[in-house]
Amino acid sequence: YEMTSVTGVQTCALPISGTAPTDLRMLYLSVAIQGLLGANALTTGRSSRIEMSGVARNANMGKLQAGYLFPEIGKRRNAYLEKNPDANIISLGIGDTTQPVPDHILAGLTTGVSNLGAKATYTGYGAEQGVGALRAKISEALYDGRISPEEVFVSDGSKCDIGRLQMMFGNQVKSAVQDPSYPVYVDTSVMMGQTKLMDDASKQYEGIVYMKCGPENGFFPDLDSAERADVVYFCSPNNPTGAAATKEQLTKLVAWAKERGSIIVFDAAYAPFIRSKDVPKSIYEIPGAEEVAIEVNSLSKYAGFTGVRLGWTIVPKALKFADGTPVANDYNRVMCTAFNGASNIVQAGALAALEPAGLAEIEKLIDYYMGNAKILKDTMLDLGFKVHGGDNAPYVFVDLEGKSSWDMFSELLETAEVVTIPGAGFGPGGEGFLRLSAFAPRDACEEACTRLRKAMAK
Ligand code: MLT
Repeated sequence: YEMTSVTGVQTCALPISGTAPTDLRMLYLSVAIQGLLGANALTTGRSSRIEMSGVARNANMGKLQAGYLFPEIGKRRNAYLEKNPDANIISLGIGDTTQPVPDHILAGLTTGVSNLGAKATYTGYGAEQGVGALRAKISEALYDGRISPEEVFVSDGSKCDIGRLQMMFGNQVKSAVQDPSYPVYVDTSVMMGQTKLMDDASKQYEGIVYMKCGPENGFFPDLDSAERADVVYFCSPNNPTGAAATKEQLTKLVAWAKERGSIIVFDAAYAPFIRSKDVPKSIYEIPGAEEVAIEVNSLSKYAGFTGVRLGWTIVPKALKFADGTPVANDYNRVMCTAFNGASNIVQAGALAALEPAGLAEIEKLIDYYMGNAKILKDTMLDLGFKVHGGDNAPYVFVDLEGKSSWDMFSELLETAEVVTIPGAGFGPGGEGFLRLSAFAPRDACEEACTRLRKAMAK
């Protein structure tokens, strides 16, 4: 291990044995670094400052292997643009919406803004759990009253909620993820200290249960052979594979969690993209799920709210920790402490989005993106690839037939100027696959397909 001080005056080489126990290696490293800093301070006697605080870095942050996936993709795209300033890049990368917020929903947002400008309608801090009217609307419009308003916690998005759920669960739990999966589940588990280091060979963090989901098992994990975990992150329709679990599969998942005493964190952020009749839009369509599952969701992909920010988490009253404490009590405590309520402007927009006129607008938006998904899927099929997803989800997952996904990502960026997402970015189970997002504008999506037909022709 080699380290150069910020002032560049000292370099030290430390032999860290690859076989030494992890904690010992980390201790050795930290002592060595402290020694180096001390020596620096004592021996340089220069006016140059050492640009470091005396605060030890959170060792869990040091376990993370690279930057967060999507900014990492952005960095590579920008590096390409720097070298090729005239490039005309099309993004089929991050699942970011591109179509404007429709009129009725926009009017809700505008009302939210106007309310702030009049004495009679001005509001300051709201309830940390969200305004009562929106909690009731979510319960009625999306859960048919199956979930009560008090079980709905409104927020600034489901990614943020996953972070707050991790804060609630703490570092003593074992988490399980589908492999591949949305990277937030694994990264926040690492940050919380639930894991040891990543194993270089398997590319898995020690301490996380990876449940392989690939074409060989229909993208549904082999539950019987999976090691027990306390918290099981399950996303359907799935990001990145696009697979949507059937009612029968989710019934099995709920029964399995109940039997093992696990809690499912069900990520339903892509629920409105579901087109198949036998695919539930919520885990609570499965009887008994309220005793084992939390559900996170968001308007980001429904209503073009990726930048607006509005999500919610359902924590049913019936869900309890091992000592009998209702999980909702602790989640409420986290929300009250670490969150100040979603923006009042945005909550007004969300109320409009869930009215019949808003829901109709959402349907139209989703049809548009699903039209893109079909174009992408058909293109890849025409090229002779095996393709997954794209029917109940805005993601198309292409089997690269053994090719490295990061290599394919780079090749397509350089030859077609199309940004994609390498499957390996979602975990080792995603290696050999490429994710294409259907959120581009239609003309860009069509142009990307023309380029991909050329670049990926076999
Ligand atoms: C994705 O591209 O996977 C998602 O859009 C990123 C996110 O929702 O955070």
